[in-house]
Amino acid sequence: MPKVFVGYVQTVSSTVSFDQLKVELELLEEEAQKEISAAADSDSLEKLRVGLLGKKGRLSRVLGNMGKLPASDRPLVGQFANLLKTQLQESFSERLQFLKAEVLTALVASETIDVTSPPIGTPLGKRHPLIKTTEEIVDLFCGLGYVVAEGPEIENDHYNFTALNIPENHPARDMQDTFYLDGNFLLRTHTSPVQIRYLEQHSPPVRIVAPGRVYRRDSVDSTHSPVFHQVEVLAIDQDLDFSHLRGTIMAFLKAFFGDLPVRFRASYFPFTEPSAEVDVQWRGRWLEVMGCGMVDPAVLEGLGLDPDRWGGFAAGLGVERFCMVRHEIDDIRRLYTSDLRFLEQF
Ligand code: DAH
Repeated sequence: MPKVFVGYVQTVSSTVSFDQLKVELELLEEEAQKEISAAADSDSLEKLRVGLLGKKGRLSRVLGNMGKLPASDRPLVGQFANLLKTQLQESFSERLQFLKAEVLTALVASETIDVTSPPIGTPLGKRHPLIKTTEEIVDLFCGLGYVVAEGPEIENDHYNFTALNIPENHPARDMQDTFYLDGNFLLRTHTSPVQIRYLEQHSPPVRIVAPGRVYRRDSVDSTHSPVFHQVEVLAIDQDLDFSHLRGTIMAFLKAFFGDLPVRFRASYFPFTEPSAEVDVQWRGRWLEVMGCGMVDPAVLEGLGLDPDRWGGFAAGLGVERFCMVRHEIDDIRRLYTSDLRFLEQF
C-alpha cells in the first residue's frame, strides 16, 4: 500500500478507506515520534505539540477526512486515533521530563562549588601611610614613657596663640596664616595648644605626645597642604635641660630613620627659649622635620607654674615630612588623593 497523504487523496477521490487513513495515521505517528525525540528544548517541544495535537494540528487535519469513510469504519478510526493521541501525549510528557532533567543537571553542574579548592581570601583594607607614620612616632615616644594627649581642632585664640606667648599683634601670628571661624574661634594652626590644655589639667611632672590635624592658609603644591598633621611632644619636670631635649630627639630620630644625618639649627619660637629646628638629610638636601626648644618661662608662668622649679622641652613634628622621607614620596599631594595604586604599597 503506497503511503499517500490524505490531502492528495482528497483531490483524486472523494472517499477514503479505513486502511488508507490508518496508514496515514501510522505514518504521522512515526514522523511525530522522530520529531519529539529530536526536540531540543521545551519551547520547541511545545510548538511541535501544538502543531500535531492542537485544534488545527496535523492529527486534526488527518481526522478531518473521517467524514469520507464509510460510516461503519468511523468508530474504528476514532478508536485508533484516540490511541495514537494518547501515545503521542505520553511521548510528549516523557520528552518534556527528560528535557527538564537535562536543564537541571546542567544547572547543578554549573553551580557546583568545589569545596576542596583553595580560598581566594578576604581582601583586607590598610591603614593610611600618614596614620601609620603617626602611630609609629607616637609608639616610639610611648616607649620612652610619654602618654598620649589630644586637643580640639577648633581652637580659640587663647590656646592657639596667647597662652603660647604669642600676644595680639605679635609678628609670629603672621608666620601661621590662620583660618578664622566665627567669633573667637579658629582652626588650630599647630598642636602646641595641647601643651596648655594638658598642663591646665595635670600637674608636672608630665610627658605627653599629642598627635593631630592642623590647618593653615597655604596653597597646595608638592610640599604644602592647607591640612596637615603634627605630633606635639612635651616634657616638664625638674632639672631638664637642652641635653635632655637633644638626647630625646636624637634617640627618637635614630629609631625612626636609622642613620640619616641630622642637624640642629638655631631658630625662634615664641613659646620656647632657646629654640631650634631639626633637619634631616634627604636626597642630598637638608629637610626640616620639626621645631623644638626649651619651654619659655613665660608659658609656665601663664599656667601658674613656678619656672624656677619646673622646666622642660617641647617639640612639634611634621608627620607628612616623616612619612615622605621614610617612604621616598616626592609629592605631598599623593598622601591626600585616595589613589589605591599608591595607597596599596604601604
Ligand atoms: N608649633 C610649631 C609650628 O607649628 C612647632 C613647634 C616648635 C612646636 C617648637 C614646639 C616647639 O613644641 O617647641 O610651627
